[in-house]
Amino acid sequence: MNELQGRILDMGDDRMLAEAEDGRRIWVSGDAVPGDVVRFRLKGKLGEVMERLEDAPERVEPACPLAVPCPGCLLQALPMSRQLELKEGKVLETLKRLGGLEPQEWRGIVASPRELGYRNKLDLNIRGRELGYLRGRELLPVKDCPLGADRLRAALPELRRWLQGLDKPRLKRVMLRCDSAADELHLLLQGRAGRNELRDLGERCQVASLSIREDVGRPWKTLLGKATLSFELMGERFEVREDGFFQVNLEAAELLLREAQAWMKEMGGERLVDLFCGCGFFSEPARSWLPDQLGLDMQVSRPGDRAWDLRKGLPEDVQPREGDLWILDPPRSGLPEKLREQLAELYLPHLLIISCNPATLARDLKAMGGYRIRRAQAFDLFPQTSHVESLVWVERNDSIFA
Ligand SMILES: C[S@@+](CC[C@H](N)C(=O)[O-])C[C@H]1O[C@@H](n2cnc3c(N)ncnc32)[C@H](O)[C@@H]1O
Repeated sequence: MNELQGRILDMGDDRMLAEAEDGRRIWVSGDAVPGDVVRFRLKGKLGEVMERLEDAPERVEPACPLAVPCPGCLLQALPMSRQLELKEGKVLETLKRLGGLEPQEWRGIVASPRELGYRNKLDLNIRGRELGYLRGRELLPVKDCPLGADRLRAALPELRRWLQGLDKPRLKRVMLRCDSAADELHLLLQGRAGRNELRDLGERCQVASLSIREDVGRPWKTLLGKATLSFELMGERFEVREDGFFQVNLEAAELLLREAQAWMKEMGGERLVDLFCGCGFFSEPARSWLPDQLGLDMQVSRPGDRAWDLRKGLPEDVQPREGDLWILDPPRSGLPEKLREQLAELYLPHLLIISCNPATLARDLKAMGGYRIRRAQAFDLFPQTSHVESLVWVERNDSIFA
């Protein structure tokens, strides 16, 4: 039988978990949130929702007309209180299921000050003359994205008009970014376009900078403006390369940063080792009380930090010292295997981990063995989506030798 009926139990990263009437648990995509009862069609091992038979009692009208087909906003049909509950559950459940870990102290989840309009970066795909988000291989055309900051949303109609007027469309992707004052627009395009066409786009959208590269891995060419963005937060100014990482939800990231700073002070230390440091988001604000710092990242912007691919593990001359404070903020894929093995071997007294993926966090801590979670807290840096950030104080579990 290809059609089944079931209740949505929980959310995953990009699908919902349904329990069918026969007890099978199946990942489904489509118009469904936890609590709904749906009819779905099986396609291989996955399901596709055909009809909602019963609504979750908390359901609300999504803010965006594209919320259902769009792959980004899985939770827009739920009020913020329910979104936060689901994310808190996701962190705790994943740590337990995949890592066998339970935080000794759980500090709950911190909401984002903004529920919409919080993103300082929109990353869109282009097919021919159409702009949108990818759903699998297909493009979902997008005219607006309410998650984006006003400055980015305001540029979308002009960008679409420009694309539609192109003679030969040869672009694949566009990234729109704005600085923390949200008044400068930076455009990064991938693919090809004529110099005059690009100049025209820059003028129409009144960009602060415009860069283009032919493909991933190829160098950026900056045609207009200065290709760095500046962000100000907690009295610090961060200068970030146009393609460099920076937190997308500044107001929520500031809450995370304040908490991380407080925990770092509690942990104490004489030298700060910041792995995956980026622009020094977590370490720079600590410089006044912890001036001895070493940051490692593939892409560094602070003088003194070292450009290094951590898939190779730690550089040979980076060894732990007595009184070190190590912090780690890896990408969604988590810690590279070699680094994980080294951290297991080094068995440091404690680590502060910032993670945007509970599954890889749990996997890494399990693989490192011998560590336990002293304290953890979640932060909703990505409202409306299924994503959640965690701040985790990990310590050596000496009790296993007791
Ligand atoms: C989640 S970001 C955190 C950056 C910084 N801590 C912040 O909050 O702005 C992850 C960082 O990991 C870096 N990164 C990703 N893979 C890496 C690798 N294999 N080696 C070193 N750095 C890497 C990226 O450049 C990025 O700056």
